Amino acid sequence: MSTANHQKIDFDSIPERRGGDSHKWNRFASGSQDVIGAWVADMDFPAPDPVLDAIRQRLDGPAMGYSEPPLELIIVMLERLQKLYNWRVDPSWLVALPGVLPGLYGATRAVGDPGDAIITQSPNYHHFYGAANYSERQPLGLKHRLSNGRWEMDLDHLNHLATSGARSFLLCNPHNPLGRILPQAELEAAAQACLNNDIVICADEIHADLLLDTDKKHIPIASLSTEIEQNSITLLSPSKAFNLAGVGGFALAIVPNPDLRGALERQLHGMAVHPGALTYAAALAAYRDCDSWLAQLQQYLRGNRDYLEQQIAAIDGLSMAHVEATFLAWINISELQLDKPFEHFLAHGVALSDGADMGDGNYLRLNFGCTRTTLEEMLSRITTAVNKCT
Ligand SMILES: Cc1ncc(COP(=O)(O)O)c(C=O)c1O
Repeated sequence: MSTANHQKIDFDSIPERRGGDSHKWNRFASGSQDVIGAWVADMDFPAPDPVLDAIRQRLDGPAMGYSEPPLELIIVMLERLQKLYNWRVDPSWLVALPGVLPGLYGATRAVGDPGDAIITQSPNYHHFYGAANYSERQPLGLKHRLSNGRWEMDLDHLNHLATSGARSFLLCNPHNPLGRILPQAELEAAAQACLNNDIVICADEIHADLLLDTDKKHIPIASLSTEIEQNSITLLSPSKAFNLAGVGGFALAIVPNPDLRGALERQLHGMAVHPGALTYAAALAAYRDCDSWLAQLQQYLRGNRDYLEQQIAAIDGLSMAHVEATFLAWINISELQLDKPFEHFLAHGVALSDGADMGDGNYLRLNFGCTRTTLEEMLSRITTAVNKCT
């Protein structure tokens, strides 16, 4: 893995996204009022220079016909998994996908039958419920609780759900929106509950490169044992950490079990388009040449996270748990007793994500993948909005 690019990145000076093609900034923009986009999970920072250079180089290269994943991308990915997680992955286990969501929806359909129950953490990124609902599966929400200021899965609840006939468990780790990195003991307990009850695990680990707490490690659940590996689908992508969502989708499913891999491929057949040459070039450069950029991004996000936590603690009526990973904060607004919390903050110029869509209307999710200046302005508007409630 090259760390050749040590250029100092200025995350404070970035191109304006208002008025451009940004879904995050345009969707709730209104003519008369400035609205800060802090909902959908992309960051305001441009992708790293090596990624942009790689895209330019590929544009100047040969014809843009159907493309294969470059061999170097596979090698870099496998070396990375070995180095970061001590996980030895065979190239035959990989399925290239045009995004994590086709993998999540495809995995949901690859296991069991319509009408079957599926366990999914609750709250969760709304597509976890969507994957179940659009696949005619019954989502069973696995509760979380706050323990010493830290979110944790309710393992008793998981053991209960696991014996209720569920066929698969959709896991999000690091977790969106709770911002937590699941510790090994919790992953082992969850995996055991699944193994005991013949439940396939689909782990969405798209946020794995966005670790903010330096004393914690991401552990791919499949890397815990051969048995778990054989019972799981893992989804990875560079698109969150390197901010590539607009380049075109790319993700990798790691599916060691050939039957499960075949079942996933059948679901995707003819539906999930081929990733393109530009996204392959971008992914390769991201994983090969951008370690230094990523470390600087994590440092910047850590600063935003610390600032946000301090500010939220100082606003009466709001609270949040410590964010260990991601650039997303799950903010409890229940004390404000608002009928329509999302609309209330939108009226004060901040578009957050409505927690009701993610399983809990007592919360709003805030995206702090932005400049400190934008975050300061966001918090000033949030303070005004809260003061209007009292
Ligand atoms: C947990 C999680 N999974 C998947 C996605 C979407 O992935 P993709 O754009 O690769 O389909 C997101 C985007 O916010 C996410 O947070």
